[in-house]
Amino acid sequence: MKTLYLIGFMGSGKSTIGEMLSNMLCLPHIDTDHMVEEVYEQTIASIFQNYGEDTFRVYESEVLKKTSQRNHIISTGGGIVEQKENTQYMNDTGCVIYLKTSFEEIAKRLEDDQSRPLWSQNLQEKKTLFNRREKLYERSADKIIYTDNKSTKEIVEEIKELFV
Ligand code: S3P
Repeated sequence: MKTLYLIGFMGSGKSTIGEMLSNMLCLPHIDTDHMVEEVYEQTIASIFQNYGEDTFRVYESEVLKKTSQRNHIISTGGGIVEQKENTQYMNDTGCVIYLKTSFEEIAKRLEDDQSRPLWSQNLQEKKTLFNRREKLYERSADKIIYTDNKSTKEIVEEIKELFV
């Protein structure tokens, strides 16, 4: 099986679904956000705060390119699609699955979230980011899975069915 890349906005469930798929399919799971924190020994929030978003994007691209093994499940950060080189890389090396979630649902899920620097902007900025990103996700995706009103189990089953 090709490596599966999960993309989507913050709070769309990439990490949770990635972990569940990995357990179900017995394939290794890599989360690029966790990998950035491990490799650079800092939380994402402190990378943003100390060095800015541009530096985070450089780190993110670097770790993505270290995940090129076959047969992996890779959960990406919501902004992975900001760099053309990243989407090119994912399209060349695997199958890209977009977990599509509405803004209203994301807002519910991340209501109390303080850990994501780009979710601490005002409502209008978050909406603008969401609308811009949606186009990038759609352009990069091989498959789109809608997640609103579905359980994580249903989403995982739907992804699994694409490949059996
Ligand atoms: C980001 C999403 C985050 C993390 C960072 C930037 C983004 O990952 O990579 O805070 O630009 O959308 P999640 O999508 O896992 O929250």
